Amino acid sequence: MEALKKVLEAGLKAIQEAEDLPLLNEVRNEFLSKRGKVASLMSQLRELSPEQKREFGQQVNRIKVELQQAFEAQLSNVEAAVLKLKLESEKLNLELPGVDFRVPLRHPLTIVQEEIEDHFMAMGYEVIEGPEVELDFYNFERANIPANHPARDMQDTFYIDESLLLRTHTTAIQTRALEANAHKETLKVICPGKVYRKDDDDATHSHQFVQVEGLVVGHGVNLANLKHTLLSLAQAMFGADRNIRLRPSYFQFTEPSVEVDVSCHVCDGAGCHVCKQTGWIEILGAGMVHPHVLEMAGFDSEAVSGFAFGCGVERIAMLKYNLDDIRHFYQNDSKFLKQFNRFE
Ligand code: PHE
Repeated sequence: MEALKKVLEAGLKAIQEAEDLPLLNEVRNEFLSKRGKVASLMSQLRELSPEQKREFGQQVNRIKVELQQAFEAQLSNVEAAVLKLKLESEKLNLELPGVDFRVPLRHPLTIVQEEIEDHFMAMGYEVIEGPEVELDFYNFERANIPANHPARDMQDTFYIDESLLLRTHTTAIQTRALEANAHKETLKVICPGKVYRKDDDDATHSHQFVQVEGLVVGHGVNLANLKHTLLSLAQAMFGADRNIRLRPSYFQFTEPSVEVDVSCHVCDGAGCHVCKQTGWIEILGAGMVHPHVLEMAGFDSEAVSGFAFGCGVERIAMLKYNLDDIRHFYQNDSKFLKQFNRFE
């Protein structure tokens, strides 16, 4: 009986002192498992007389029940303590003031440029870039604009020295692309980039602006392909209901050349102040690549043909967003810029 009492006391003490789950489990194994201390008390039964056996057996059972109850009670204490600790460590103070932060904004010109790029990438075009400080050779010579052409006049072009300038159009990217791809006899590229002209800055002119040009060369490329391509661009920019019309025009590097109008997205062609009552808005220059331009770059103009088009990103963006002053794009007023970056 003395031994029983000792086991009970030791067990209760050990249970009480086990303050985490692994320890508590160890104590249970020590006392209450098949080979634990309580079970080994039972094995002493053999040595006792029948009456003693009964008495002893009952006592051992009582101890077993008492230890089990103590164990269950301690288990729920420990579990409650573990949960409490966890909740405390994960506590959030929802009453703290928020922290102001700036979401990176995309510039409206970037948005429009990427819309144009996405439209053409979906049709298998590759987007390529080129240097802003460019050789006269690629900006003018290779674009079939000879030395005496008015476009080369010092009035229009920022020259760095006799042969180096700030490119006046992204056609310079195209003449480079033509040269680099002549051996392939095929080309399908979009050329976005900044261009520079000696213009006096006002509401509709800027000495620096962004152009996107497209160029396709291959066997049998024709004006109907160009028209389809331009219609798809106009609709991507101004809505599926838009139509286009082509007017004859002149560029040195295309023949024939066209100017492209889109039906007014504001009045749907009825006439309003945006389209100056004509129902049409000019958005693009385009044409079939001049055979001489192809030849200079190394293509066989008898075997392949090409089309090219170019537009001003500021102009498209001003029309899309109904802006009346190009200078908004360059002032970086965050109130202006934020309007184009709503969370969607
Ligand atoms: N490079 C011309 C411009 O700057 C636009 C253009 C590109 C026209 C391609 C025809 C073909 O105005």
